[in-house]
Amino acid sequence: MAHAVVILAAGLGTRMKSKLPKVLHPLLGKPLVGYCIDTAFASGAEKVVVVIGHGAERVRQTFEGYPNLHFVVQEQQLGTAHALAQAQPVLAGFQGPIVVTQGDTPLTRVETLTGLVAAMQAEGAGMALLTMRLDDPTGYGRILRDEQGQILGNVEQKDATLEQQAIREINPGVYCFDPTLWEKLKRVGNQNAAGEYYLPDLIRIYREAGQKVASVESKDTGELLGVNSRAQLAEVERVLLQRLRADWMNRGVRMIQPETIYLEPGVELAPDVTLWPGVILRGQTRLGEGVEVGAYSVLTDTVVEAGGKIKSHTVCDEAYVSSGADAGPFARLRPKAYLEEGAHVGNFVELKNARLGKRAKAGHLAYLGDAEVGEESNIGAGVITANYDGQRKHKTTIGKRVFVGSNSVLIAPVTLADGSFIAGGSGINQDVPEDALAIARERQRNIEGYMKRKRGEGS
Ligand code: UD1
Ligand code: CA
Repeated sequence: MAHAVVILAAGLGTRMKSKLPKVLHPLLGKPLVGYCIDTAFASGAEKVVVVIGHGAERVRQTFEGYPNLHFVVQEQQLGTAHALAQAQPVLAGFQGPIVVTQGDTPLTRVETLTGLVAAMQAEGAGMALLTMRLDDPTGYGRILRDEQGQILGNVEQKDATLEQQAIREINPGVYCFDPTLWEKLKRVGNQNAAGEYYLPDLIRIYREAGQKVASVESKDTGELLGVNSRAQLAEVERVLLQRLRADWMNRGVRMIQPETIYLEPGVELAPDVTLWPGVILRGQTRLGEGVEVGAYSVLTDTVVEAGGKIKSHTVCDEAYVSSGADAGPFARLRPKAYLEEGAHVGNFVELKNARLGKRAKAGHLAYLGDAEVGEESNIGAGVITANYDGQRKHKTTIGKRVFVGSNSVLIAPVTLADGSFIAGGSGINQDVPEDALAIARERQRNIEGYMKRKRGEGS
């Protein structure tokens, strides 16, 4: 029987000092609680329930469309047991194990959840919980055991005697329960230092009911890292980045000064990708085999096919770079920039909704917006597609083997047919026929001896 997961995430998160609900703070571009949700589903959960409080509507909207994901609201934060009780309406009648995790500890692993379910079932226990041993257990609930090592209960820091405070085995807050959970929750009181309904009190209640409580000790204390402040968010991000980088390097990616490279979980990298220092890869960016990304480039939702190259300081957003094509240094590929095989974009060139055909080139200082450039055409320095008339956008169509001379303005809508040649400095607002030469600028006039006369040197 598959299990369900309840994620407790109604806490206020005041230490973040933010208008954004804590659980929505981005961690490598993904909301904090998104990690817990993904881990829950990855563990095989049949249903996932998230208990939310502060900013409930926003949290709900963020995860709209996830199947088998439910949200329940805890109006008042009366404690972790009270939070869990809010999930009962969704899970009433659910006969499988119920795993409980915390919405602000995104590093909890899939194996930890499945391990708890397995331990509970293998030992015929009523519940199972994770434990850890910390050199500094301050702040955590301490695990109480009898002489035989059987778990008796948990005592919170606030309620612990000095002797109990010396216990180094702690409760990381990850549990698994059998379906008798709901009736037992009713027996949790709030007679304690915090005046809250403590979820770990269930340990004692299960024991009193004559049921066994299993425990699984985790050696990975990193899993415990919680996010209560901006500094902790940064720390968790550092750990996740380290894992991601190590994972990609294991799969054949070369990183130069890996600690300077930022990449998000949705990024996909092929073997022999090379990333130079300071590279930022965001969203669903995909890099094919042998792709090289130069220093300090920022790629978001961008695809670079095998053998493509992004040179340093290039910014790409929803761009597509085919094999053998290259961009940069200092290029800007905006949404729907598309480079076909072998196309070249050089420094200070901006593309927006523009396609460069095979081996077409825009080497320097150009703006191509709403444009189509045919294969082997050359766009000179300073060429601008004037695509916007103040109200609407218009298209520029450039055929194959067209040469657009430097500093030309192509006033859209306009078409330059195959093989045409635009003289430098032209302002083109009429279509240019195939193989024609277009010159659209004032003819040059040289006045002989003018400067000599001006200097009074006579003729
Ligand atoms: C809890 C445990 C403690 C454990 C620690 C591990 C209790 C009483 N104590 O303490 O034994 O060592 O976690 O991190 O459970 N939440 C709600 N509603 C509430 C209160 C909390 O949804 O009314 C959520 C929070 O958003 C958070 C989680 O439950 O995700 C844990 O709450 P928190 O206040 O952080 O508990 P701790 O004091 O850390
Ligand atoms: Ca906590």
